[in-house]
Amino acid sequence: MEIVVSGIRPTGNLHLGNYFGAVKNFLRLQDEYNCFFFIADWHSLTTHPHPGDVKVNVRKILAEYLACGIDPFKSAIYMQSDIKEILELYLYLNMNAYLGELQRVTSFKEKARKQPENVNAGLLTYPTLMAADILIHRADKVPVGKDQEQNMEMARKFARRFNMIYGVDFFPEPQSYSFGGDAIKVPGLDGTGKMGKSEGNAIYLIDDAVTIRKKVMKAVTDSGPVEPNSEKPEAIANLFAMLKIVSSTDTYDYFNEKYNTCQVRYGDLKKQLAEDIINFTSPIRERILDFSANIEYMDKVAHEGAEKARESAEKTIREVRKIIGF
Ligand code: ADP
Ligand code: TRP
Repeated sequence: MEIVVSGIRPTGNLHLGNYFGAVKNFLRLQDEYNCFFFIADWHSLTTHPHPGDVKVNVRKILAEYLACGIDPFKSAIYMQSDIKEILELYLYLNMNAYLGELQRVTSFKEKARKQPENVNAGLLTYPTLMAADILIHRADKVPVGKDQEQNMEMARKFARRFNMIYGVDFFPEPQSYSFGGDAIKVPGLDGTGKMGKSEGNAIYLIDDAVTIRKKVMKAVTDSGPVEPNSEKPEAIANLFAMLKIVSSTDTYDYFNEKYNTCQVRYGDLKKQLAEDIINFTSPIRERILDFSANIEYMDKVAHEGAEKARESAEKTIREVRKIIGF
């Protein structure tokens, strides 16, 4: 059976971008494959050296994973830091990872620019740790958004290189997975770009109705089209892209028709969009609150998930040691 691995750093709450870009694809895979979903707490140290109360942050994401529908009976849900075998594989992969190629990774360069006072070795070797997360289960598929493509390319390179250096056919080359082919990008509602935590424009699954209405009503618009069937400027296209993601086809077609006939009222569109987002998030929000109140259950899920993940990781490490010669 094919194996799926993915992770998310516990640096904040899940937003609509995380959900539609990554989590939704996890959900599609867990019925059919052997799935491992983890919380990348070690990775968060590359940018957040003082993570605060790790347990609290991790439980927050765990409650959100579960509330979205990741099912601990079908998938192993665990914390990266519970699987020490990942570190051993990280070490072996680092021995065959070269300074030049690591320095050329775009996200390394970007983060080095953002935090010039803290260009640490963990940041440089972020892709080898991510490759270790994936290869430790000898995974085939990795559901992630478009921004992870270069890290995935590195993971494939490290897998190939290991196989070549030791003359084995041990690690499969893991592929990114997105349902229907292309990874989707959830836009921000502030005019340009994507929705993201660091962009400060995120609508979170945990946001209440009042907060969501406020965020959506603030979305950037213009004075409206003056010619029928005119092309939508980026801010307007983003609003429509969001409608397409969360609203019904009828709603989308209704406002699109209004736009094309120059009768669109952005106030009405935003009100409808806000209600559709609230309809989508409010049951998830309820479940997040329920799970959050049940710390014992979450700790049990993480404990059992770690056991399943460790079993798979130990098996891989035993073989890797044999292959290298220990
Ligand atoms: P953020 O960009 O908010 O910091 P992360 O880097 O933690 O989010 O990303 C976690 C996952 O969510 C990754 O797989 C990433 O590709 C996906 N993702 C994040 N934002 C978006 C977005 N706007 N559209 C699609 N996918 C996204
Ligand atoms: N780099 C991913 C992100 O920023 C998180 C991550 C770490 C990951 N290890 C992984 C994703 C392994 C998939 C597989 O979102």
